[in-house]
Amino acid sequence: MKNFLWGAATSAHQAEGGNFSNDWWQFEQGGFIHDGSSSNPSCDHYHQFERDLNLLKDLGCNAYRFSVEWSRVQPKEGVFSHREIDHYHRLLDSLLERDIIPVVTLHHFTNPLWFIAKGGWEQPGAIDYFVVYVQKMAEEYSGKVSCWLTINEPSVYVLLAFLAKYWPPQKRNLLSAAKVLNRLVKAHQAAYQLIHNRYSRAQVSFAHHMTVFDSWRNNFADNTATKIFDWLWNQYFLDRVRDQLDFIGLNYYTRQRISFPFKIFPTPGKEVGFAQWEFYPQGLLRILRRLKKYQLPIIITEFGMPHGFNVSPEENLQGGVEGIRRALSEGIGLRGFFYWSLMDNFEWREGLTPRFGLYEVDYQTQERRLRRVGERYKKLIKELKAEFGL
Ligand code: BGC
Repeated sequence: MKNFLWGAATSAHQAEGGNFSNDWWQFEQGGFIHDGSSSNPSCDHYHQFERDLNLLKDLGCNAYRFSVEWSRVQPKEGVFSHREIDHYHRLLDSLLERDIIPVVTLHHFTNPLWFIAKGGWEQPGAIDYFVVYVQKMAEEYSGKVSCWLTINEPSVYVLLAFLAKYWPPQKRNLLSAAKVLNRLVKAHQAAYQLIHNRYSRAQVSFAHHMTVFDSWRNNFADNTATKIFDWLWNQYFLDRVRDQLDFIGLNYYTRQRISFPFKIFPTPGKEVGFAQWEFYPQGLLRILRRLKKYQLPIIITEFGMPHGFNVSPEENLQGGVEGIRRALSEGIGLRGFFYWSLMDNFEWREGLTPRFGLYEVDYQTQERRLRRVGERYKKLIKELKAEFGL
């Protein structure tokens, strides 16, 4: 198998620093970030990207997943910034010079303030605005990018922003949530088409966050609640866009138990202490087996675990890679793996405290240092390349 993608992932708002024109920056100014930190400068990836790409290369990676910040390249309705568009051209050129394949996300949770002022994703015209942005990105970057992710984790975005009141715009409204989710389905479908119109052989998907759900007790009530939850979270969006996918982009982190009526919790004793996650790397293989029926290539677009909690990110990675080994030997069409994240960065409402990086970042000096999990990743890439001829 050629061209298996070994990579690491970041997103613009989390890593770049200096994104002052989107809804997250506004939210951060409202004092909602738990540790009082902000996304500026985070790990200053906007200025440090050359160095960061060298660090990526040092790991033996041949691919990089990052996102374009919509509010940078289109700071006002109808206005594109050539300076910012050039920034991503430079980033792409730097990747290509190093033989690193870019995987570009177009929407990773943040929205331009001008788009929010019009009603964000709740307004009926949202897709038209998104389409203008995507069209421009496809025109600009299609010569350099063939692998695209339209939207990062639509279900996570809708849950946290429109049901849980946790992320901006902090709503709890079932109708809005349903509307936005369905609008994101259409946004993906439109973006898929636009990118293909520009370059018919492009590989387009979205990053789908999947969780293993197991019912707590084996009885009718818990099993039914689990099935409903699983359908809503894991299946709904994927099945709606089934005909507009060239591969499946999978973000996997954890398992949750479900008991009637809709109580969701990590298995007691296995909690990570981060976001109510459970330590369950073996879930990756379960999800991969489940995705086999789609008969589409699969790229793991995120997998990782933060430092400083009661579990080891190395062990988590090792567990995930065991799953990859099995999946490959079972003939599952896995084509890539991206660790979350290349280096520590801004973890949304939790701020800079959770550290997901293969590289540790000193936020005072902007120094980076390879962590044990980074060393392990490097070794595993080498081993799997040799073992499977990847
Ligand atoms: C998101 C990332 C986030 C990571 C860790 C994923 O759901 O795409 O932006 O940092 O999880 O929580």
